[in-house]
Amino acid sequence: GQAMDLAGRHVVVSAGGTREPLDPVRFLGNRSSGKQGYALARTAVARGARVTLVAANSELPDPAGADVVRVGTATQMREAVLKAAADADAVVMAAAVADFRPASYASGKIKKRDGQDPEPVVLVRNPDILAELSAERPRPGQIVVGFAAETDDVLANGRAKLARKGCDLLVVNEVGERKTFGAERSEAVVLAPDGSETPVPFGPKEGLADIVWDLVADRLS
Ligand code: C5P
Repeated sequence: GQAMDLAGRHVVVSAGGTREPLDPVRFLGNRSSGKQGYALARTAVARGARVTLVAANSELPDPAGADVVRVGTATQMREAVLKAAADADAVVMAAAVADFRPASYASGKIKKRDGQDPEPVVLVRNPDILAELSAERPRPGQIVVGFAAETDDVLANGRAKLARKGCDLLVVNEVGERKTFGAERSEAVVLAPDGSETPVPFGPKEGLADIVWDLVADRLS
């Protein structure tokens, strides 16, 4: 990392995992801890940026020096990210955003009834915040970064996802039962549309965060 190379920049980072409610007590969620997004926020503060952290359901303490906006669902995350992105130099979507949400929300707790099968849960698509930002670029020249967790054909799936989303950088993580989610350390590769691949050695999530900011700072200058 280069000291203070993000001074005067506003960066937005999303972190954590969205929860999509079924009823007042139940939700569809995922295993994201928020650690990678929080590491991105901390390292950006250390490099001099003004940081807005949009955090979904993370139990981690607020990073010192960042503006933290707490959200629950993908819809709330979209609103908060788009609002903060209006004047942002870079947006890094490290959050695990639910691709789908329940089509309907029961305002009272869903009950089991003797002798009756449960109602199926019908899902609808959530907006793809990363694809929307990449297409619209609320601020000209803004750098948009996505994350992808893949279990197999990591590079091929990552390349396809980079093209589909239209972002400037895609950080591809290989995930599995004990890899990445909730872990302190990770291993990844950062893909760019020019075909470049930046390998990220296995190590603390701060190390990956600093490599992301190096690549972002290059593209901003
Ligand atoms: O399509 P997939 O969920 O694998 O894409 C992951 C990337 O897209 C992450 O950067 C995530 O934050 C972002 N994403 C999003 N909105 C969604 C789903 C994913 O911004 N609805």
